[in-house]
This record gives sequence, C-alpha cells and structure tokens, in this order.
Amino acid sequence: MLCVVSNTNDILLEARGLGKQFPGGDEAISVLDGVDLQVLRGESVSIRGESGSGKSTLLNVLSGLEIADRGELFWEGQLVSKRSLSWLAARRTRFIGFVFQAYYLAPELNSMENVLLGARIAGRVDSTVVDRAEALLKKVGMGHRLKHGSTKLSGGERQRVAVARALINNPPLVLADEPTGNLDEATGEAVMELLLDLANEESKSLVLVTHNPEFAERTQRQLHLHLGKFES
Ligand SMILES: Nc1ncnc2c1ncn2[C@@H]1O[C@H](COP(=O)(O)OP(=O)(O)O)[C@@H](O)[C@H]1O
Ligand SMILES: [Mg+2]
Repeated sequence: MLCVVSNTNDILLEARGLGKQFPGGDEAISVLDGVDLQVLRGESVSIRGESGSGKSTLLNVLSGLEIADRGELFWEGQLVSKRSLSWLAARRTRFIGFVFQAYYLAPELNSMENVLLGARIAGRVDSTVVDRAEALLKKVGMGHRLKHGSTKLSGGERQRVAVARALINNPPLVLADEPTGNLDEATGEAVMELLLDLANEESKSLVLVTHNPEFAERTQRQLHLHLGKFES
C-alpha cells in the first residue's frame, strides 16, 4: 500500500516488494509476499494481522535484523537491502529504536546501564548521554528505579526501561513489536500511552505492531497484514 507524498525527503523508510521465505518441511514457507510500505518522517503507523501473518518478520526485515529474499529497502532514501547484517547493525543504532514484546533487557544490568548500553553500542557515552538516559528514565516514570537491577523490575517497568533504551540514540524511527503483549491490561495501557506520547513529543516515526484495535486506532494510519502483504 503506497500513499501519495509530495516530498520524497519526507519518506523515512520505504519498502518495495519485500519477500521473505523460510525453509519449511516439504516446501518453503512464504511469509512476506510483496510488501510495499512508506513511512513518513514523524508519522505513526500500526500493523495488525493474525498470529503467524508475518508481522515480526516484517519488522525484523525493516530494521535489518533479517535480510529479505527479494525487494528493496530504503532508509532515509538510501538503498540498504544489499548491505551486510554488520553494516545494517552499525547504521541501525542511530536510525532505529526497537521495542520488543519480551523487553530483552540485559539481566545483569540496572535500568541506567540498560539504557546506556544502547548508547555504548552506538559508540558514544559521555556526560550528555548519561544525562539523557536519566531524563528519559524519568520521563517513562522510572526515575525512582535508576539503579534497580532489571530482573527485580515488574514487566511494565521493564518495558518502560526498554522504551527509554529505544530512544537513547535519538533515532528518527521507533519500531515496536507487540510491546504490550506480555503486560496486563492496565499496565499495557500505560506503556502504550507512554510510547505514543513520547514518539509524538520527540517527533519520531512509529511503526507499531499490536493485536489491540484500540491501540491501533491511536496511530495516524492503520495497516493489516494478510497472506504476506498489506490488505487495502
Ligand atoms: N526463523 C524462522 N524459521 C522458520 N519459520 C519461521 C521463522 N520465523 C518465522 N517463521 C514462520 O513465519 C511465519 C510468520 O511468523 P511471524 O513473523 O513471527 O508472525 P507474527 O509476528 O505475525 O505472529 C510463521 O508461520 C512462523 O512460524
Ligand atoms: Mg510476532
């Protein structure tokens, strides 16, 4: 599904005809089958689709965690789909913040250290970054748990730290894969509120995979993935 845009500089992320298969038993499983997508700077987009429809695979391919078998991927107008995983990893640190359903915090680190790890991977930890980490943790309501070991945090608290980590390098794009999938309803609501507000406040583009139709409605554009492509 392509939308009409006047200024190509406003397109932050673009996918053209992305295809991805996985080896199956007798024959390969086709998971993405020609996905077209444009995400504008500052735009929020939600993606829904039944379990197994390829939502996580799509986010992984858009973020360069996995490579598509066919099609083209552009980050800020630059063709990146022919690049290696290591090139993508280096470039991704400043382009994309990722929030996963299962948080993926480093268990041996505290909240501050987990957020700073994101900056360390991007190769920059100075006093401004430490200040930003603290400010972000305060913004996500974790100012009172800066030095708390991540295994001692509740699910909602872990996801708040993960949201702060996703933003530490000030990426223009945040991808979130069912970020409230492991949380109870009230906590999920609070985390989603935070993610939408913060993306908005910090002028980020947001691609949100969610099963929750109410959360999906709160993004500017709603997409449905079905049989490996977006339904119109
Ligand atoms: N690494 C993999 N190897 C083989 N099959 C996979 C792999 N990753 C995902 N799949 C399959 O691809 C399909 C889509 O998976 P996924 O993208 O996780 O769906 P969703 O996030 O929409 O639930 C599923 O049928 C899943 O079993
Ligand atoms: Mg998934």
